[in-house]
Amino acid sequence: MNFSLFNIFKSNLYNLAMKVSMEVSPSIISSDLSNLRDQIRQCDRVGVSSYHIDVMDGHFVNNITIGPDFVSAVRRSTDVRLEGHLMIERPDRYYREFIKSGIDNIICHVETPISVGSFLHQLRNEGIEHGIAINPETPIEKIEPFLEGISTILVMSVHPGFSGQAFIPAVLEKITRAKSMIRENGYGIKIEVDGGIDDKTGVLAAKAGADILVSASYIFGGNIMERIGKLKEIQYSPSSH
Ligand code: DX5
Ligand code: ZN
Repeated sequence: MNFSLFNIFKSNLYNLAMKVSMEVSPSIISSDLSNLRDQIRQCDRVGVSSYHIDVMDGHFVNNITIGPDFVSAVRRSTDVRLEGHLMIERPDRYYREFIKSGIDNIICHVETPISVGSFLHQLRNEGIEHGIAINPETPIEKIEPFLEGISTILVMSVHPGFSGQAFIPAVLEKITRAKSMIRENGYGIKIEVDGGIDDKTGVLAAKAGADILVSASYIFGGNIMERIGKLKEIQYSPSSH
C-alpha cells in the first residue's frame, strides 16, 4: 500500500471508530397524553437523553400547552432529565415553579421580551442548568453575548407554537455557525435542533452540527421505540462537527 492510500485507510478507520450516535429528546406534546406513563415507559426502554417539554402561554406563541402540574406528572413517570422549552413572555415569573416541578434544564428564547442577560444570570444563581432557544428568522449572532455558562443552544427549525410543521432547511447554516461559535470559544455547549425532525431531516441536522434531536410528531406518530431507534442510529463523526 503506498503512503497516501495508507493515510486514507487510516482516516476512514479513525472515522469509523469515532462514529457517535445522536442523542434524542422526545417532545411529549405529541404523545398520547391519556396514556402518558406508558408512552414515557416506551421511550425510557429504548433510551433517550431527556424529555422535551414545550411550555406555551398564548402570548409569546399563539398556543397554550402545559404548566408545572403537568411537569410534575411527567417527573413521577421517569428518572430521565426533563428540559423545559419556555415559549412564554415572562419566564422570569414562572421558572421557579418549573424547577420545583422537576425541570432540570430551563431553556428560554433569545426573543423573549425581558432582559435575557439578567434572566440567565438569575438561573445561574439558582444553580439550574439552562440554555437558549432561537427562532428560525433570528440571526445567530443574537445569542453570542449569552453563551457563557449555558449548556444548550436550541435551534428552532420550525416557527414555535405547534408540532407537525415542515423542517426549514435554511436553519442548517445557522446550526453550523452556532457550532463554530462554540468551537472558537471552547465552550462545552450542545446544539439541539427542534422542529420537523424525522429520520431524514435528522441526518441533515446531524451533518450540520447538531448533537441532540428533538422530535414530537415523528416519534409519537408511529412505532415509538422503532422511531427513536432510527433517530439514535443517525451517526456522525466528531471530526466533521
Ligand atoms: C414547536 C415546539 C417543538 C415541537 C416539535 O413550538 O417547540 O418542540 O413540539 O414538533 P415536531 O417534531 O412535530 O415538529
Ligand atoms: Zn420545543
